[in-house]
Amino acid sequence: MVAALPPTGVRVRVPAKINLALKVGPPRPDGFHPLATVFHAISLYDDLVAEPAPAGEFTVTVSGEDAELVPTDDSNLAIRAARRLAEAYAPAEGVRLSIKKAIPVAGGLAGGSADGAAALVACAALWALDLEQEELLAIAAELGSDVPFALVGGTAIGSGRGEQLVPALARGCYHWVLAFGTEGLSTPKVYGLYDELGGRTAPPPTVADELMNALRAGDAAALGESLDNDLQPAALTLRPVLRRVLDAGLDFGALGAVVSGSGPTVAFLAGSESAAIELSVALSAEGICRSVRRAVGPVHGARVVT
Ligand code: C5P
Repeated sequence: MVAALPPTGVRVRVPAKINLALKVGPPRPDGFHPLATVFHAISLYDDLVAEPAPAGEFTVTVSGEDAELVPTDDSNLAIRAARRLAEAYAPAEGVRLSIKKAIPVAGGLAGGSADGAAALVACAALWALDLEQEELLAIAAELGSDVPFALVGGTAIGSGRGEQLVPALARGCYHWVLAFGTEGLSTPKVYGLYDELGGRTAPPPTVADELMNALRAGDAAALGESLDNDLQPAALTLRPVLRRVLDAGLDFGALGAVVSGSGPTVAFLAGSESAAIELSVALSAEGICRSVRRAVGPVHGARVVT
């Protein structure tokens, strides 16, 4: 149940992402890794409310899943987003943000990035800035590699460090089962281990044709077989139980399984809604992950809701 919206506030709903493919090149001089990835927005949402505050005041409160792990100082990505927008467009007032989280923190689902994107959309509406999507995307890219995708949603191919997006030709609605890890994984640590394990020496990374063809055809079985994440071996090394989670889901009939982003969330593709329900019940009973959630994708990016 979502709390009543204050009369002067703006509410934004923003989705989590999974990576259907994540191909990673050797680190660039700035330390970031060049990517070829397929982002897919799923129906697991954080909600953010922005309310007016006196000029110069930027605050955030956080509730819901993993709330105690989210910083509420100026390092919070939603606060950084609001401040950055204010620097660029000098609104007459500040903002009071409140976030209700459903996306686990450090789960490989871009939850922090989602909150940054939600803050951009909410503050732009609150301050009546009337911006083009391109203007928000430019600020989003400065804030983090996954923030632009949280603005656009859907299914999109990401390149650069993930911030350069083109929509993917994709058909169909997919049923996902997500297994959340007991504890988050640090993204820089997973990328670091990926390099130590040998990484990839020959840029540029590319996404397999099989996966793009499966999306174009709306073929869930073929998509399940082509899910692919270069960071998965590093995530499994840091969190060996994930191997058991992946195997259990496949044994229970998933069409495919992949660690999302830098993990530890594992995404399983099911062939139908009823198959997803069966899979989530069976996985929960195994007791090898913190919790299990179902979601569908693709869904749209950060949007004002009334
Ligand atoms: O861009 P973002 O702040 O989300 O990235 C978090 C960290 O993940 C970076 O500091 C970097 O260590 C790693 N990263 C990377 N290559 C990318 C994206 C992220 O090495 N393309």
